[in-house]
Amino acid sequence: MAEGETPYGAIQDGAMLVRDGRIAWVGPRADLPAHDAVETRRLDGRWVTPGLIDCHTHLVFGGNRSHEFERRLTGVPYEQIAREGGGIVSTMTATRATGEDALVASALDRLRGLTDTGVTTVEIKSGYGLDAANELKMLRAARRVGGEGGVRVSTTFLGLHALPPEHRADRAAYLDLMIDDVLPAAHAEGLVDMVDAYCEPIAFTREEVARLFDRARALGLPVKLHADQLSNGGGGALAAAHRALSADHVEHVDEAGVAAMAAAGAVAVLLPGAWLMLRETVLPPVDLFRRHGVRMAVATDCNPGTSPVASMTAALNLACVQFRLTPEEALVGATRHAAAALGLSSAAGTLAAGKAADLAVWNVERPAELCYWMGLPLLHQRWLNGILR
Ligand code: NIG
Ligand code: FE
Repeated sequence: MAEGETPYGAIQDGAMLVRDGRIAWVGPRADLPAHDAVETRRLDGRWVTPGLIDCHTHLVFGGNRSHEFERRLTGVPYEQIAREGGGIVSTMTATRATGEDALVASALDRLRGLTDTGVTTVEIKSGYGLDAANELKMLRAARRVGGEGGVRVSTTFLGLHALPPEHRADRAAYLDLMIDDVLPAAHAEGLVDMVDAYCEPIAFTREEVARLFDRARALGLPVKLHADQLSNGGGGALAAAHRALSADHVEHVDEAGVAAMAAAGAVAVLLPGAWLMLRETVLPPVDLFRRHGVRMAVATDCNPGTSPVASMTAALNLACVQFRLTPEEALVGATRHAAAALGLSSAAGTLAAGKAADLAVWNVERPAELCYWMGLPLLHQRWLNGILR
């Protein structure tokens, strides 16, 4: 599958030349230019897609929240658990108590679910440390997951994810700490590719997020936002006003927010795993995104609270079945538009000359099967920068 005008951008009977980890040429085999390849691989008619890109995860964390899952199944709402000091704060406690090596090890276990479903690029957020030492620990762990897990990792600073208990009486001091100290320190250590925040009544206000985003811009860092997930709080419009790469979740965004996202070129990152696990009923406004030309990406949101989903093909399936994306939209959302949500459009996300040779080779007869099966292992091979992993 490549950029093009056929359904799925498909090239039948295609060929590809890879040099120095990048795609040097891709097209119909009949047009293959003369070359001096040192190694030839036959894929026996299998489908090749760009390596899938999981553009929204919280893959690094300590513990898990299956005890809260049990409570939520009896009808206790996510917000209530959060207000009682559970939720993100309970994962914060477990993450603070876990050393960097153990964080890397458990993230690598979960990563296997992603790489086995064709992922070559994964975004990983901080946001369960919520103090200087532990936010930095999470980001260092995330970088190591890239080196040790055979994936490209983009890191995101999510210091404004929840207010930690020690700051409950002094919110302003927490904002100062994260915005003035921890973000700049993490950036100086080369640990931050993007900046995110959780904008929601149970988390941070638009004004607080705007202050963080102003600092991100001053540091030259792109931003994205957990926006309008549980309520319409103007998150889509806020993300757009700050030229965010993406606004994520966005189940409750209104048409003005969608229009603002379209004008700003912000990607809508759809997270059907969280929607399913929270037993949400309000669907993201997919038709509005289509009508306004907002690009839609699909990601797992892998996290211990709202989306214990570590399979990219499961996310694709849910995007189609629950959110009514077409399989082609879902696959574009896990490749080209996911790359855009990470600011990686020039490097990854499509099969085109000059891009990284990040490839997934599949045992399927039709691309729609990547969205159709749930739990069936479909991956034949995974290539990162032209190297078989
Ligand atoms: O993407 N919405 C905020 N952040 C996560 C949930 C994190 C958690 O509950 O641990 C999300 O859904
Ligand atoms: Fe999230």
